[in-house]
Amino acid sequence: MDIASIRRDYQRAALDETHVDRDPFVQFRKWMDEALQSQVDEPTAIALATADADGAPSVRMVLLKGIDERGFSFFTDYRSRKGRELTENPRAEFCIHWKELERQVRVAGTVEKLSVLESARYFASRPIESCLGAWASLQSSVLGHRKELEDRLEETRQRFGDKVPHPPHWGGFRILPARIEFWQGRPSRLHDRLCYRRLENRWEVVRLSP
Ligand SMILES: Cc1cc2nc3c(=O)[nH]c(=O)nc-3n(C[C@H](O)[C@H](O)[C@H](O)COP(=O)(O)O)c2cc1C
Repeated sequence: MDIASIRRDYQRAALDETHVDRDPFVQFRKWMDEALQSQVDEPTAIALATADADGAPSVRMVLLKGIDERGFSFFTDYRSRKGRELTENPRAEFCIHWKELERQVRVAGTVEKLSVLESARYFASRPIESCLGAWASLQSSVLGHRKELEDRLEETRQRFGDKVPHPPHWGGFRILPARIEFWQGRPSRLHDRLCYRRLENRWEVVRLSP
């Protein structure tokens, strides 16, 4: 199969300046709700891009866990590669693709850590196995063998039983957006792209070439 010959024309919908909300958070929620209603697979999975202090990029999937008027949040191990990169260079962009709706959104901005209270609250809502894993795995570090991880998980289980405290090395980050771009696929690659940019105390919307 020649992958160069794979192409698809996008026909489902259009994106028009007169129909989008002036507030990109409202617009994002509207598209997220439509993705949830359409039963899109993994509707909250985002590709999160970070960079180290030299600007070398890295990208991985994480799950979006919160959206409010401040920004977009996700949770991770602060000692991981992304955690270290966001500490030394607190800027990020994520891309979310709802392929069944022929839509993508890109969100870029500065990043802050969630408060310990916010992280602890979310941690307490996770299944116990995920909580144990957060103690047992030093995310992004090299493992000699899978068994090391499994042994550490068992030790963690012995140590905490069914009351797993919130680890200080684990928590959330919030992206405070400066730019949010909504993309709707259109026929013949003439896609619609509306990009919100944050000014002093309002958002400006511009249309970008596809
Ligand atoms: C769909 C999906 C969702 C994921 N969600 C998370 C997440 O919410 N938090 C997280 O730390 N890793 C998540 N991962 C694992 C990351 O992609 C990645 O392997 C891990 O965070 C280590 O990345 P890093 O070494 O760049 O820090 C997810 C992976 C996939 C495929």
